[in-house]
Amino acid sequence: MTEAQAQQRGGFAEADGGLRFEVDGEIATITLDRAEKRNAQTFATWSALARIGENLPEQVRVVVVKGEGPSFSAGIDLRMFTPEGVPGQGSFGSTAKLPNERFEQRLGQAQQGFLWLRRPEIVSIAAVQGHAIGAGFQLALACDLRIVADDVKFCMKEPALGLVPDLTGTKPLVELVGLAKAIDICLTARIVEADEALRIGLAEKVVAGGDLAKAVEDKIAELLSVNRDAAVATKRLLQGARSRSLEEQSKAEGLEQAARLRALFG
Ligand code: ACO
Repeated sequence: MTEAQAQQRGGFAEADGGLRFEVDGEIATITLDRAEKRNAQTFATWSALARIGENLPEQVRVVVVKGEGPSFSAGIDLRMFTPEGVPGQGSFGSTAKLPNERFEQRLGQAQQGFLWLRRPEIVSIAAVQGHAIGAGFQLALACDLRIVADDVKFCMKEPALGLVPDLTGTKPLVELVGLAKAIDICLTARIVEADEALRIGLAEKVVAGGDLAKAVEDKIAELLSVNRDAAVATKRLLQGARSRSLEEQSKAEGLEQAARLRALFG
């Protein structure tokens, strides 16, 4: 899609990051669009994701993240491991030489591409088929919900490559599956397939590959059937629940409800 075509459809082209971005009313769709390289991700991908988050039109309520081709994403572009790196973006070799502050800044920028997907104002859905490896797995974990095809293969490969997962994936993984299972998945770098993903809470739903788009559409319709402001307030409550005591959470419920009642009946 050209920049002009993308803008006509309410989005903008993100060719440099290997992404497409489209907005259709309350629904935004981000498509990893480098199928021939199994949607491998680079720093440009993460910058493009962050820019989408910064410029997301206010009317958007649901953000779908999906990948073209047989794999959702094969993770970070393996050229990062070579001395030459990714043209214009460096390599792990050059990144390793950065002073601490510069490194933190660079990683922080990359993480911004993932963090906004959890905003209370939206619900993000990862539609995942085939491999979701490393950064691909973490991108799926950055979303609120994961609807997956029956050929899905999640793999946190970073430890096998001498790295740690650092694209915001460790917290949602532990929260979804628990510490023991997260240790098992990450420290073996093993593949988690569809049945297990569903059983341990990594996936909300598993469907045949050909039914993935329809399953996502159905979920979007369900999500959009609920009052928008109530949905935002409820997501805020749910997100805060783990870090609050029961008393604090009850109080937070009351505060949100008071605002709702005033908006509806005040
Ligand atoms: N980076 C760059 N190119 C990639 C990547 C990647 N991560 N993954 C696949 N490709 C390329 C291949 O080099 C190949 O390119 P070519 O056609 O020019 O030779 C093309 O995509 C297709 O890849 P195949 O391996 O032929 O596809 P297949 O379907 O057989 O296998 C699989 C898919 C399993 C995903 C395999 O490509 C793979 O293991 N990729 C690497 C996964 C990985 O280690 N990622 C890093 C994780 S760590 C992190 O993300 C921080």
